[in-house]
Amino acid sequence: MGGLCSYARDAVPRIYLSPPHLSGRELELLKEAVDSNWVAPLGPQVDAFERELADVAGVPYALALSSGTAALHLALIVLGIGPGDEVVCSSLTFSASANPVLYVGASPVFVDVDPDTWTIDPELLDRTLAERPQVRAVVAVDLYGQCCDYDALREICERRGIVLLQDAAESLGAEHRGAPAGGQGALAAFSFNGNKVITTSGGGMLVSRDEGLIEHARKLSTQAREPAPHYQHTELGYNYRLSNLLAAVGRAQLEVLGERVEARRRINARYRELLEDVPGITVMPEAPYGRPNCWLTCILVDPDEAGADRETIRLALEAEDIESRPLWKPMHLQPFFADAPMVGGDVSAGLFDRGLCLPSGSALTEEDQARVVEIVLASRVATKSSQSA
Ligand SMILES: Cc1ncc(COP(=O)(O)O)c(C=O)c1O
Repeated sequence: MGGLCSYARDAVPRIYLSPPHLSGRELELLKEAVDSNWVAPLGPQVDAFERELADVAGVPYALALSSGTAALHLALIVLGIGPGDEVVCSSLTFSASANPVLYVGASPVFVDVDPDTWTIDPELLDRTLAERPQVRAVVAVDLYGQCCDYDALREICERRGIVLLQDAAESLGAEHRGAPAGGQGALAAFSFNGNKVITTSGGGMLVSRDEGLIEHARKLSTQAREPAPHYQHTELGYNYRLSNLLAAVGRAQLEVLGERVEARRRINARYRELLEDVPGITVMPEAPYGRPNCWLTCILVDPDEAGADRETIRLALEAEDIESRPLWKPMHLQPFFADAPMVGGDVSAGLFDRGLCLPSGSALTEEDQARVVEIVLASRVATKSSQSA
């Protein structure tokens, strides 16, 4: 092993990017669910999880689903998006933001991000909507726990009669102008997959202020069953409901959401402090209008100034059994979306070239974090000395 630091690798457990962090109450609530015999994708834990999550997101209606992707899919359906429509989506995101656009037979149009927020650039969005009359909706993606600039996005969308859908998969517990993330669009989708701020192992939630939209999505999520004693269907249905067992896990997790967000914010602040004076390394900017949940702390590496590129740093961390990950590869650079229109692109491409997500799990110890930073710094020194040799 090419050791860059003094730790004996075998003695030290792997540091993951963002592993699940249990609260300790999961088994108790799971037992309640099992004892009640509600082990189906319906039941009191699901109902309670929906109510509690809606409160946290500051919206009246919520629908628990099997994934965040399912939430985005149903959102597009209940908004009536379909073949012939275009949907704008931020390019710098996970593919699950864009795939549902294709599920409904519509076409994605990708737009670049603002370098100061890493979320969709409002000016480029405005220009895109002016030029593309087929656009009917915008999927605004809250990135790495940072909300989009919703004041600007809402003004643009309202002026043009376009619906705004919030992909809040990464931003549960974040704030936008003092309000919780999740109430900024017509609908918002959360994810509880294993690497998120809280997890149900896999799961999602669709939230809205519009009861009709949520009730329509609720019906579609259970195979679009009509209220009849037999199975009666008048539209295409899906099997997308969250299990009552997983909702029990979600409730135990939600109880500690505040603590988890504070822990991630502390970790972010510590990375900022430890990396502050390091030439060529900067931490993702924090937008002035919000308070991110700091789901993942991301750095940008300028190879000329830092003396190492982000891949060298990633490999140095990996050699020490520490998981880190390049930023999302923009959708317009994905072979699968090669034919989709793209507005701008240099900002997200540049961020992808230089960006690295560092271990940010809420259980990360100060000692482990110090180790991560030590290796980041050592990889730069190692690269510099091998270049001058
Ligand atoms: C931005 C974004 N959108 C959508 C999703 C999809 O959520 P899920 O994995 O729960 O389907 C994720 C995470 O996985 C995500 O990070």
